[in-house]
Amino acid sequence: MAERTRVAIVGAGPAGLLLSHLLDEAGIESIVIDSRTREQIETTIRAGILEQGTVEVLTETGASERVNTIGDKHSGIYLGFDDELHHIDFGALVGRNVWLYPQHEVLVDLIAARLAAGQDLRFGVTAERVEDAETERPRVVVRDAEGRESVIEADVVVGADGSRSVVKKAVTGSHGGFFHECPFAWFGILTEAPPSKDELIYSNSPDGFALISQRSPEVQRMYFQCDPETDPSSYSEAQLWDELQRRTPATELKEGPIFQRDVLKFRSFVAHRMQAGRAVIVGDAAHTVPPTGAKGMNLAVADVVLLDRAIRDLLLRGDATHFESFTDEALRRTWKAQQFSWWMTSMLHQQPGASDFERHRQIAELRTVTDSEAGRRYLAEAYTGWPLLGR
Ligand code: PHB
Repeated sequence: MAERTRVAIVGAGPAGLLLSHLLDEAGIESIVIDSRTREQIETTIRAGILEQGTVEVLTETGASERVNTIGDKHSGIYLGFDDELHHIDFGALVGRNVWLYPQHEVLVDLIAARLAAGQDLRFGVTAERVEDAETERPRVVVRDAEGRESVIEADVVVGADGSRSVVKKAVTGSHGGFFHECPFAWFGILTEAPPSKDELIYSNSPDGFALISQRSPEVQRMYFQCDPETDPSSYSEAQLWDELQRRTPATELKEGPIFQRDVLKFRSFVAHRMQAGRAVIVGDAAHTVPPTGAKGMNLAVADVVLLDRAIRDLLLRGDATHFESFTDEALRRTWKAQQFSWWMTSMLHQQPGASDFERHRQIAELRTVTDSEAGRRYLAEAYTGWPLLGR
């Protein structure tokens, strides 16, 4: 016997939970499943720059109050190069801001809001496969923590299940999508220390890129460019501080104990389509962007806002127009974000074996941005986020 719901959502990350939240506002029932436990979801520390539009969606729909209280509004970033810091003042340039609010906090808020609303949210339940995606009764075959298999039948199946998505297979088939790999990675640390600067620093130095980010008044997140094969345990704490400080010469970093370290590979991916029949993929299941543009979670939210409108029109009014155009509209924004992230990455990192010519050219590119109001505004507009379609 199959259970029935209107929308079966695979993945309780930001995309899956927000979609169920928005659908519920319109009275559309859904079931959300995730193979992880609630604790795993709520305690994995991830990046957290939220575009203004993302914050508006979260606050206007009652999904998160705390982004206003413990979130930290940032009205710009610093670009560092040639031993100088250049401030890009988003507020003055485009009248928009971003918020530093880590993704796991968004998840804590969304899970609490969903459970308070009586949402059918199932942890420890794994999607095995999607069947009948081409019909109006797609199904997800699932397995619970005890290994029992069952079936959820729905009007629409949504894969919000990350880069190793199970739903993706039913959507993209053998074509998959488009990949790009960069020849470097980020070495990330979490340190117990006060912030070194009021806003984030993206620094291009002859030794490579560094990013000085934050998590809270007590915990800071920092990264430096490294070889993708780097073993995270191969550096002593003193060596890590030396790498970070050498790459941010214009700022004295405030040091503290380093309690987490990891190496993040740079992979870019865009699925060739985001839907097939009644199966749809959103967020990381459909695309991966390099972290340099801070677009990951924001793109997931943009997908969900579009998909919410498409599903409402389809299921409440029988109008499939927005559902049918979902892939085209979502991929347009995805490719713009991909382009912005690629541009920030290429402008700020050292390519292995880059010539002196290339190095001078890169500094000139950075100056072209920081010396010109149009250049600064282009960066500010993209970083704070383009208007959200669908709301
Ligand atoms: C982070 O804080 O982890 C972070 C911030 C900005 C980025 C990437 C990562 O562009």
